[in-house]
Amino acid sequence: MLKQLEELQLEALNELGQVSELKGLESWRVRCLGKRSKLTQVLRSLASLPLEERKKIGALANGTKVSLESSLAEKKKFLEEDHLASFLSRERLDITLPGQPIPAGRLHPVTQTLEEICSIFTSMGFQVAEGPDVEWDYYNFEALNIPPQHPARDMFATLWIDYEETTGQARLLRTHTSPMQIRVMEKERPPIRMIVPGRVYRYEATDATHESMFYQVEGLAIDMNITLADLKGILFEFCHCLFGEERKVRFRCDYFPFVEPGAEIAIECSSCHGAGCRLCSYSGWLEILGAGMVHPDVLRRVDIDPEVYSGFAFGMGVERIPMLRYGIDDIRLFYSNDLRFLKQF
Ligand code: PHE
Repeated sequence: MLKQLEELQLEALNELGQVSELKGLESWRVRCLGKRSKLTQVLRSLASLPLEERKKIGALANGTKVSLESSLAEKKKFLEEDHLASFLSRERLDITLPGQPIPAGRLHPVTQTLEEICSIFTSMGFQVAEGPDVEWDYYNFEALNIPPQHPARDMFATLWIDYEETTGQARLLRTHTSPMQIRVMEKERPPIRMIVPGRVYRYEATDATHESMFYQVEGLAIDMNITLADLKGILFEFCHCLFGEERKVRFRCDYFPFVEPGAEIAIECSSCHGAGCRLCSYSGWLEILGAGMVHPDVLRRVDIDPEVYSGFAFGMGVERIPMLRYGIDDIRLFYSNDLRFLKQF
């Protein structure tokens, strides 16, 4: 019987050694220490032994039981710690790891240019205003000395929304930002110094220098004693701020029905430096703005007395500015959403 106890203990410890998960411990306990285990059978059979032997074997069998129970407790503790350690190593959050970088966005080159234009003019005392993209015929044309049937309407390839020539209530996508000259002068009294950035639309066949939607910035200054010299001084200063003192600027006569006299400003082409190329339609120059002294009839229409006040207005195309500065040879690149292009600015 002694031998049997020894073997039984060895066997049980051996099996316990092979248990590698907490789940396995309970079945081991049932098998080796449970009611039907060999050890329990030995303990039960003690009753039939003579007293001396019963004492001796009984003590040994109990010792075996206690020792196996403590081995079980030890093993349980070991497995629990092991389980926790492997859980921690798997689930550990390393707060010292660098985070995932969030790609920084950037402003569209046209937006950047608009901001720059606005900051140059605000530094000269101009205020910034905005107006509607959908405009009445009255503001886009009539109030600017372009009545229905006037040939000057041909200067603008117009996108009409509804066309009711007789009532004068036709609406269109504004072809320029000049209608805002009227809206500003209807509301404000001189002195006025205002610039208006915004989108304009033309029914245009697109090519390297024409888009059917593009940006303009309108400028308007009305006060006593404003002359053509002020207009020229401000616009030359503006061109030099944007393009540098060296870039050649051309100032010459042009016609717009709402100014008198009218002028046009062009910048030497950055791509060919005056030699002529696709970007400048082989002229060596790129027109960036139209301008002039506000026509007396326009002032009268908004109740500003042209005998007392005078002023100038200008309107510039915005896309042409980054085109000239960076040598971009196709305006369509701005609106084709190609990140390889946009990421360069
Ligand atoms: N609105 C004109 C255009 O789009 C430009 C302009 C503005 C000319 C103001 C003179 C004065 O062509």
